[in-house]
Amino acid sequence: MAAKCCASVTAKCCSSLAVVPMVERHGQLFLKLNDGNEMPMVGLGTWQADDDSITRKALRNCINAGYRLIDTAWWYSNEEIIGDELQKIFKEGIIKREDIFITTKLHPSFMGRDTVVPQLKIQLEKLKLDYVDLFLVHWPMAYEHEPGSLFPLDPETKKVRLDHTKHYTQTWKGMEDVKRLGLAKSIGISNHNIRQVEDVLLRANIRPSVLQIESHPYLANRKLIEFCQLRQIAITAYSPLANPGNSWAPKESAKYPKPMSDEKLTAIGKKYGKTPAHVMLRWQIQRGVSVIPKSVNEDRLKANLNIFDFTLSPEDMEVINAMDQGTRMCPFVDCGNSFARDYPFDEYRFVVNAFE
Ligand SMILES: NC(=O)c1ccc[n+]([C@@H]2O[C@H](COP(=O)([O-])OP(=O)(O)OC[C@H]3O[C@@H](n4cnc5c(N)ncnc54)[C@H](OP(=O)(O)O)[C@@H]3O)[C@@H](O)[C@H]2O)c1
Repeated sequence: MAAKCCASVTAKCCSSLAVVPMVERHGQLFLKLNDGNEMPMVGLGTWQADDDSITRKALRNCINAGYRLIDTAWWYSNEEIIGDELQKIFKEGIIKREDIFITTKLHPSFMGRDTVVPQLKIQLEKLKLDYVDLFLVHWPMAYEHEPGSLFPLDPETKKVRLDHTKHYTQTWKGMEDVKRLGLAKSIGISNHNIRQVEDVLLRANIRPSVLQIESHPYLANRKLIEFCQLRQIAITAYSPLANPGNSWAPKESAKYPKPMSDEKLTAIGKKYGKTPAHVMLRWQIQRGVSVIPKSVNEDRLKANLNIFDFTLSPEDMEVINAMDQGTRMCPFVDCGNSFARDYPFDEYRFVVNAFE
């Protein structure tokens, strides 16, 4: 089934570093990865989508709307729901397995070389798939492994207990194993900083194809993005809308990014008859960055695809580039543990509450 989302776009209207080329197929834009595979530039995020019936419905709605990439993770506790509903969708002949790009991630409790293959096999069983299209190392830090616990907390510090015997460069060897075994078509990393990406690259036999990082107009992440694009590592922006509906974040805090109600983005959107959400997503596409906005609401998930019938002018792109404040909505100073040796966000290092 042809995707409906990008019917009026051509790769030519977007500018990015040519080392991560964009290609158009069946009206859908893809990034050509350094291993030859192609990744859709828009996908559905599924963090905080773990309600069984809501998530199943969202999955069907997104596929009907034209999404061809689903982003999940062990962390999101929804791989089983997604796998089960996908099987039904395949059986009903709505799409075929090869029509959809599935990304999942290795949780920090499974870092180290030898744990990667067995853990992905467990996740594949939950997803009811023989392979994923992309497997990412979710974070560079390693947690102590505590069966059944996503975040093994230290009762005193309330921070996650770390395992400093594991290092993300060892983990990368396990990622290469899953690629060689065909359990993941492509492999990549997430939440790594420039130094950590370089560490991986220096030791890699198979280079990461993708880096997934937080990015929105208040966190442009330009240096990291350029560093990666020049090395043929494609970028996916997570929280591309700065997660306005986040259930746990202190949204009343002045430090919590709220670009969705930003006056400049609203004014730019008005010029094109678009919302700030459209502007934020389109800005990423035009700088060669793929996006995975999350929505379980049918209207909003459909709306988030309406970004291929307008082009931001170079002047508007510059206005948005200049809005960068380095503000994260996902510093994860607790569950990431900002005291960890391999915590990636230097500006949040040793911070106890990022939103105070
Ligand atoms: N690698 C990582 O460490 C990492 C970290 C965070 C996220 N991610 C991935 O990136 C995905 C996206 O990031 P995110 O979920 O943090 O945030 P996001 O996509 O920026 O925002 C999602 C929130 O915005 C709402 N929303 C969606 N479209 C909207 C629109 N057009 N207008 C107004 N509100 C809208 C959603 O609510 P409704 O559902 O009610 O529409 C939801 O509350 C995640 O779901 C996950 O797959 C990865």
